[in-house]
Amino acid sequence: MAELDKNDGSMDATPNVTDVVAVDAADETAAVAAIEAPVERGEPILQVRNLVKHFPLSQGILFKRQVGAVKAVDGVSFDLYQGETLGIVGESGCGKSTVARLLMALETATSGEVFYKGQDITRLSGRALKAVRRNIQMVFQDPYTSLNPRMTVGDIIGEPFDIHPEVAPKGDRRAKVQELLDVVGLNPEYINRYPHQFSGGQRQRIGIARGLALNPEIIICDEPVSALDVSVQAQVINLMEKLQDEFNLSYVFIAHDLSIVRHISDRVGVMYLGKMAEIGTDAEIYDHPTHPYTQALLSAVPVPDPEARERGERIILTGDVPSPANPPSGCRFRTRCWKAQDKCSTELPLLAVPERFKGSDSPAAHESACHFAEEKDIVGAAS
Ligand SMILES: Nc1ncnc2c1ncn2[C@@H]1O[C@H](COP(=O)(O)OP(=O)(O)OP(=O)(O)O)[C@@H](O)[C@H]1O
Ligand code: SF4
Ligand SMILES: [Mg+2]
Repeated sequence: MAELDKNDGSMDATPNVTDVVAVDAADETAAVAAIEAPVERGEPILQVRNLVKHFPLSQGILFKRQVGAVKAVDGVSFDLYQGETLGIVGESGCGKSTVARLLMALETATSGEVFYKGQDITRLSGRALKAVRRNIQMVFQDPYTSLNPRMTVGDIIGEPFDIHPEVAPKGDRRAKVQELLDVVGLNPEYINRYPHQFSGGQRQRIGIARGLALNPEIIICDEPVSALDVSVQAQVINLMEKLQDEFNLSYVFIAHDLSIVRHISDRVGVMYLGKMAEIGTDAEIYDHPTHPYTQALLSAVPVPDPEARERGERIILTGDVPSPANPPSGCRFRTRCWKAQDKCSTELPLLAVPERFKGSDSPAAHESACHFAEEKDIVGAAS
């Protein structure tokens, strides 16, 4: 800076192009080194800050003009800690898959940051972005459509090695793929078979093997078991838990099914219409929810125990989810909330530990985006 301050307008002050490239290359090398550095268990590995994704809505055929935007993700913040599973739940269309794609840098964020080991992946390119893409992998919902039917299982699982040959050089690939098949509980001799020769659960194991191929640190699982039968769901979940321990993985686990999310997650975030409504440990969210939306979601879960049904109140969610192109002012949940007051339409509730619980060791002392956050005895909670 001192040099620039002294600038008298002479040509000497203009940096030449080689200097600029050299600085960028040094930055990139530093970013790659940070991305490859290990993170202690329990430390934040991913820090999402005020993440926004608006999809433009346009009109006109020849002369397109923007007439609005779908606010799919609208200011979402959370941390993912090394070695944990963070569950994300919420109704269809609330922005879960868009968050997943943003975390993978498959979608360009409208604004906000996603720090992976301190590097903002929304601004990375080149070698640094390639290193991030190796370390953060995804497992998709539908094992029927996410696997190319014309490729053998060996080619599907080994495809990521074309982009990252350093992980498995050409001569080692077959052995590496067979090892991965074995790791996910499939016979390594199936390497030349095609996806249609497998059951749904086996196909999802293939998807998981592909996700593991590059030795990632984080796996983003977008509804990984939703398309499977209940009995197969349990096997795949058990496999994912085993792999997490074995390979020291951190998971973001997106699902509709609240019981599955509780089973696998250490912490859970509840999304509503592009925002995070509440986040906490699984016990805080399931046994002590303070946000009316979480309470309603849990209340909709069938409770087999008649005594438990007697104890609490059942909350019925009425009305449709508003359009993300035109969300309600203030609190987005207010059009369906039985507790809504005037303040809810004018003031956006921030995701924070409610004032009256601050400093307390109550399980209600977790982050909730509601002006009137409080516990409530409901049917479904603690089930
Ligand atoms: N490429 C896109 N262009 C325009 N709108 C989109 C696009 N992708 C998603 N959306 C919209 O963004 C909102 C959030 O979609 P998203 O797929 O993230 O929701 P979701 O929570 O994953 O839903 P589901 O549970 O059904 O998978 C929806 O209103 C969706 O229609
Ligand atoms: S802020 Fe108001 S509308 Fe929103 S959840 Fe809380 S009480 Fe309901
Ligand atoms: Mg989705």
